[in-house]
Amino acid sequence: MTEKNNNLEKIVSLAKQRGFIYQGSDVYDGLAGTWDYGPLGVELAKNIKDLWWQMFVRSRADMYGVDADILMSRRVWEASGHAAGFADPLVADVKSDKRFRADHLLKEAGVESVGVLTLEEMDEIIEKEGIKSPDGNELGKVQQFNMMFETKVGASDDSSTETFLRPETAQGMFVNFKNVIDSFHPDIPFGLAQIGKAFRNEITPRNFLFRTREFEQMEVEYFVREDAWEESFSMWKEIMWNFIDAVGLDRSLVHEYDVPKEEAAHYAEKTIDFEFEYPFGREELYGLAYRTDYDLQNHIEGSGEKLDYFDQAAGARFVPHVIEPSLGVERTVLALLCSAYEVEEVDGEERTVLKLPARIAPITVAVLPLQRKDGLPEKAQEVFSKLQGEFVCQYDKTASIGKRYRRQDEVGTPFCLTIDYDTLEDDTVTIRDRDTMKQERVAIDQLPEIIKEKLDK
Ligand code: GAP
Repeated sequence: MTEKNNNLEKIVSLAKQRGFIYQGSDVYDGLAGTWDYGPLGVELAKNIKDLWWQMFVRSRADMYGVDADILMSRRVWEASGHAAGFADPLVADVKSDKRFRADHLLKEAGVESVGVLTLEEMDEIIEKEGIKSPDGNELGKVQQFNMMFETKVGASDDSSTETFLRPETAQGMFVNFKNVIDSFHPDIPFGLAQIGKAFRNEITPRNFLFRTREFEQMEVEYFVREDAWEESFSMWKEIMWNFIDAVGLDRSLVHEYDVPKEEAAHYAEKTIDFEFEYPFGREELYGLAYRTDYDLQNHIEGSGEKLDYFDQAAGARFVPHVIEPSLGVERTVLALLCSAYEVEEVDGEERTVLKLPARIAPITVAVLPLQRKDGLPEKAQEVFSKLQGEFVCQYDKTASIGKRYRRQDEVGTPFCLTIDYDTLEDDTVTIRDRDTMKQERVAIDQLPEIIKEKLDK
């Protein structure tokens, strides 16, 4: 019996108990929309980011990695259009003054295509349909709310020191476009890639890691000739699907959604969202956008710099167009937890197991002495030290062996090594496979090779 992708509450509770994700500022009753990675979450997120970096940057000759600062000149956000246009529709409960996303309330009330509605149209529907706040009170007028966090740089009170925490990593790449060209003289098409934090003052952060106020993005800005954008768009769409498979998401839970232009971001000419079937419904996982030359043109105007590409063969300059695959780390973690979480019945008992790919699982190898006596813990420590440099390992000698297997299953550890009395005789251990629960006996000497082979499968 398998129960799959069914219950966000169970996943949130497992994530907390087993050290994947904790509420941000937990001991101070939490800060809404913020979550901290625990020891297993940080390993899981790192494996996701490493895989992305390998597939999107290191394995390609046309990609250049950067790591731009989160703090950027306010002029960047004025030129990019975010200062004026990076907003969501906000509506307040007139009695409690609680704030809500107007488009979400309309969607929940059954209104379709909410993304295309103007503020006035939203007001009209709210009035006509008698839509109330979740607490049953009247709603005020819908307004635009800019989602960027404002901050000040330096000690001066002067308004020129005001800027924003970046709401996307993308702009850090547009402003480094010229620097990378000057350093590397790449042939076009080529791309910049970055993994980094982004901040959005979401009106209603919700659904665990789905909508948070601080999150990480893995983004590419791929510069192309205008007439070649469709070809590159298709290429990146394929790569995104390859990543979805490689990271271990169940492909049948992911769907492409061709976003109508009116619903898409202000800079996008064409957008495809990759939507995932989360326990709370089908929502965006990743986005792929054709941003035209919108950003470079705006930065040319804003900065007065020549942000173009010199085509040597034609002896001409032009401003490249941009394809942008954008992937969120937290949404990947959440989708993976939902996709990998299974509850099975084994010998009349429930077994919770995270069926993560072996390379993505936070712990690769658990080293378990059968008993806490007779020299078994010492032998297990020896095996642990031998493997520790090469794999993420955990040593555990508490509780019965059955309980320890279940604990490792719950966090997705693909391999459990058990050190038993035969080990003391012949230097062999059993290696247990998380999914089949089958055990085989192998020589300690051969463990690194055997584990590597299993990881490569
Ligand atoms: N540079 C393009 C861009 O930022 P986006 O669709 O707004 O596009 C890209 O964001 C990705 O970032 C999303 O597909 C999602 O994975 C992630 N993301 C966006 N907002 C988020 C939030 N509030 N919490 C968690 N992840 C978020």
